[in-house]
Amino acid sequence: MKFVHYSVMKEECLSGLDLKSDGIYFDGTLGGAGHSYEILKRTAPSGRLIATDLDKDAIKNAEEKLREFDGRFKLYNTNFKNIDQVLDEEGIAQIDGALLDLGVSSYQLDNRERGFSYLSDEIRLDMRMDQSSGKSAWEVVNYYEKSKLAYIFSVYGEEKFADNIAKNICEVRKIKPIDTTGELVKIIDRSIPYKFKQNGHPAKKVFQAIRIEVNEELDGLGDCLKNIVKRLKKGGRLVVLTFHSLEDRIVKQTFKDLETDCICDKRFPVCVCGKKREIKILTKKPIEASAAECEENTRSHSAKLRIIEKI
Ligand SMILES: C[S@@+](CC[C@H](N)C(=O)[O-])C[C@H]1O[C@@H](n2cnc3c(N)ncnc32)[C@H](O)[C@@H]1O
Repeated sequence: MKFVHYSVMKEECLSGLDLKSDGIYFDGTLGGAGHSYEILKRTAPSGRLIATDLDKDAIKNAEEKLREFDGRFKLYNTNFKNIDQVLDEEGIAQIDGALLDLGVSSYQLDNRERGFSYLSDEIRLDMRMDQSSGKSAWEVVNYYEKSKLAYIFSVYGEEKFADNIAKNICEVRKIKPIDTTGELVKIIDRSIPYKFKQNGHPAKKVFQAIRIEVNEELDGLGDCLKNIVKRLKKGGRLVVLTFHSLEDRIVKQTFKDLETDCICDKRFPVCVCGKKREIKILTKKPIEASAAECEENTRSHSAKLRIIEKI
């Protein structure tokens, strides 16, 4: 299957990075390599790019797509949370900019074999970005306790009928395991009252929730942003694109923490915490995609872009 992905807010991300022709950049979420390609093109002839992706297919596709820039990029099939190990291995102490375009690529969603899509039918539940390790959606759906399933659906999916869906999953799996995306969609569909099914596909929120759980998308995200900031040169930029409110809240809060000086009790006469502000937030409000982009690419609707600069 061809690797297709629309790079969200491409121009906004690239200008946010404030590219320099001899800079070193980190793209933690390589995906279809759309942003990476532009970083390499616009930093010719000597800019460097280090990129990571959990998905082997993304790495394979990018090796081909970025071939014309051979010698200026290195790709790692690993979690961007391992940025320290990756940069250490490259002998790079500090970088000029980093980009995270969080979540899944259209390729992952559209490739039905990967089990991410509620539109596919007889596909085994999987949803792992890295198919070589970790728990799959099958294990989550078939082994998690009812209360944990309900929690995930409610918190990660903001699904109103989380309890009912979890209860019905547990009843069905007492008889036989829930193996496919189609079986799960049917259970979700009959757990939601008809009048609440008007806004989009009834399984959309639960599938998003399971995907976040399977790939541990929110775990350690805040700490990882702090690590990336440590690796930025003074004046270096971090650009983060999020696609749902939970992710965006973590990014917003982490940036606020990093921008805050002393956190001592106001009644203390002198600072004892020693905390110093590390960044300047360049987007007081997140940037959203233009109407024209949203028309071209529906996924851009929910995107929020936040940019900071190391001070
Ligand atoms: C939205 S796509 C990125 C698209 C890319 N910016 C482009 O222009 O084509 C997100 C990609 O990040 C990868 N990904 C998500 N979380 C990751 C993580 N923690 N570590 C490494 N890769 C991750 C996914 O596998 C997916 O390929």
